[in-house]
Amino acid sequence: MKKICLIGGEGIGIEVVDAAYKVLTELAPQKIEIIKAYAGDQAEKMFGDTFPQETKEAIDDSNAILFGATHTKAKNVLLYLRFGLDNFANIRPCKLYKGLRTPLKDVNNIDFLIIRENLEGLYSVIRLGEGNIQELVKKEIISEDKYQRFFKSSNGHYAIKIITEYESKRIAKLACEKTVERKSQGFQGKLTIVHKSNVMMATDGLFKEISYSIAQNYIKKYKIKINDYYVDDMARRLIRFPEQQDVLLTINEYGDILSDLGSELVGGLGVTPSACIGSKHPYFEPVHGSAPDIAGLSIANPIAAILSLKLLLEHLGLDEAKLLEDSIKQYFLLLENFKENWRYIPKDLVPKIYQQQNKFAKTEQITQKIIDILNKI
Ligand code: IPM
Ligand code: MN
Repeated sequence: MKKICLIGGEGIGIEVVDAAYKVLTELAPQKIEIIKAYAGDQAEKMFGDTFPQETKEAIDDSNAILFGATHTKAKNVLLYLRFGLDNFANIRPCKLYKGLRTPLKDVNNIDFLIIRENLEGLYSVIRLGEGNIQELVKKEIISEDKYQRFFKSSNGHYAIKIITEYESKRIAKLACEKTVERKSQGFQGKLTIVHKSNVMMATDGLFKEISYSIAQNYIKKYKIKINDYYVDDMARRLIRFPEQQDVLLTINEYGDILSDLGSELVGGLGVTPSACIGSKHPYFEPVHGSAPDIAGLSIANPIAAILSLKLLLEHLGLDEAKLLEDSIKQYFLLLENFKENWRYIPKDLVPKIYQQQNKFAKTEQITQKIIDILNKI
């Protein structure tokens, strides 16, 4: 029996996790125990706290968590899921399913993974905070004389970027293992390290050097290939050569940016899931945010959350993952005929003209369609 904790969070996070809940109860009711937990506004109303003890206990008691999204009050829960639990690897698959549209011409075979280091890099500021540049003067890290242009106005801030050997090693190891796993599934077995070591020689340089050194064993033993690109070059390559990509290993902030780009290559944020793993309590969430502008309107696309659920089930080794993916694959084929099927397709996936005519499905109808397909397979 696996325990799965579901947390909507904020905005459309609540609606899309609710959709995933419905799918999950159809899919594997005997094999799982579902624990619903609350964060942010919802939790505050129920327990008087945005991150109540009940939620922490539910997380700590589960084998995996599905999280919706956050923008303000539920952020502390997200921080706990990432940093508190030590989920150091953020895996973001970019897969173009048949039926989905890429904005690129003459491209139809995109299937790569972005593996984003999840706890440090420039986002170390989440834990360390930022500071005023005057502090750097006081600590004699920089002198005002030498860097006058920073002090032309009275106010300036700095942020800290940290790359450690420890974190780089374990994320590189995980990325190598994923590359080997994919090779055995028929992918190229190519690991691409993405960095900016020409500018950030110490930090990104360390990340690159460690990634290469960890990969050596895997190259010898499993014949994986390895290469590296600067992050700016990589952004271009994702657009120019998306079909050549296999596994990308990168630093936190670059992974954040490239995964949004990657998402857009394969149908957009409405259909891209992610997995944050590393601890005993891995968590899964759509790449999209809480979309406050459409929250509560029941028009959110639940597919990214449902695909995140698929990653969760896969991670727990439950066969239902395959059944769920097959259903979603079949669902995506509906996108080949908008005229007939628009009633089942979310707003972000129908053509503009349909959007203007209000011809698209509500969250509930999309979820029901996926369940109907599921039950027929
Ligand atoms: C994401 C989000 C988060 C991140 C924010 C909300 C901190 O953009 O999951 O990609 O950058 O990790
Ligand atoms: Mn992001």
